[in-house]
Amino acid sequence: MSFGFSFWISIIVVVALVLTALVGVEAAKLDFLFGVIIPYAAFAIFIIGMIYRVVKWGRSPVPFRIPTTAGQQKSLPWIKESKIENPSTAFGAFVRMVFEVLLFRSLFRNTRTELHSGPRLAYASSKWLWIAALAFHYSFLVILLRHLRLFTEPVLLPITWLESLDSFFQVTLWGAPLLYISNVVLLLAIIYLFLRRVFIPTLRYISLPGDYFPLFLILGIGITGVLMRYFFKVDVVGIKELTMGLVTFAPKVPEGISVFFYIHLFLVSALLAYFPFSKLTHMAGVFLSPTRNLANNNRMKMHINPWNYPVKVHTYEEYEEEFRHFMKDSGIPVEKEE
Ligand code: HEM
Repeated sequence: MSFGFSFWISIIVVVALVLTALVGVEAAKLDFLFGVIIPYAAFAIFIIGMIYRVVKWGRSPVPFRIPTTAGQQKSLPWIKESKIENPSTAFGAFVRMVFEVLLFRSLFRNTRTELHSGPRLAYASSKWLWIAALAFHYSFLVILLRHLRLFTEPVLLPITWLESLDSFFQVTLWGAPLLYISNVVLLLAIIYLFLRRVFIPTLRYISLPGDYFPLFLILGIGITGVLMRYFFKVDVVGIKELTMGLVTFAPKVPEGISVFFYIHLFLVSALLAYFPFSKLTHMAGVFLSPTRNLANNNRMKMHINPWNYPVKVHTYEEYEEEFRHFMKDSGIPVEKEE
């Protein structure tokens, strides 16, 4: 699939989503559809889709441990063991998982390959992707946690602490509310993750619509959110009435909510509904990754494949017994004479 196609189709779909919400709310006055029905449907697809994916992965046979990670496994007592990289205990595997989930450890260890004249193959450190990935995921998490303000009454104290921390620099632009660090970091990280796909030729070559679309969608969500907070004042009281109605299953749509909110919410709904069918499921998949969540105790424990069933075999002896006559006729050597 060409770069042009993957790029443009993703842009077109995101723009079409924005226009759908714009026309749906402004022209067709379908506030209830975009404010209640679609968000509920998207949330249901997200939950059911993710449960389906996790159950499907959970049922896949993992009959043996896969010690493909680097690091010395547990061996003789005088050989130093790599307890986190190649753990032999469940606790070690847990610690490895914590590092993976919270610090993206395997991405930190990621290297890039370069072919120099000679030809000479070289491996170099590649930390920018790791930094951008951390920046992106943590700012996203902070924004989501702050959004809990819209879904809780009274607002939980830790959420207000997080807001103060996030607006720590006390910067205001054009008399708008305090600037959140997470907003700047999120937008910069998405732009970096997008540009690296465009400017690194090998990466551009393997990038598909499934790589660009989520980036553009999240960028669209971020931009509409930023527009609402800093540029076009929205009726946050009315919006909170709507969001509290959603979580208490008593939905109502107050008058006068800006169309920016509906576009924001429609893009979020699209993201939720798309999530279980996309590469974004790595959010759940990382916990089920056998190279991360299993201790390497192959040398200490006998692992028997629990899915083994009696297999009907035909040994070479039996084969020769059956075909010896024909084999000899054709001049094929046999192990036993008649
Ligand atoms: C994937 C999920 C979401 C992301 C990434 C996201 C992102 C953002 C961002 C970056 C902002 C800018 C200001 C800020 O950071 O608080 C924002 C604002 C806002 N978002 Fe979201 N959002 C999400 C989901 C939602 C949902 C589900 C709702 C409501 C149903 C919502 C309602 C709002 C509102 C009302 C604002 C303006 C807040 C203000 O003016 O202070 N967002 N969003």
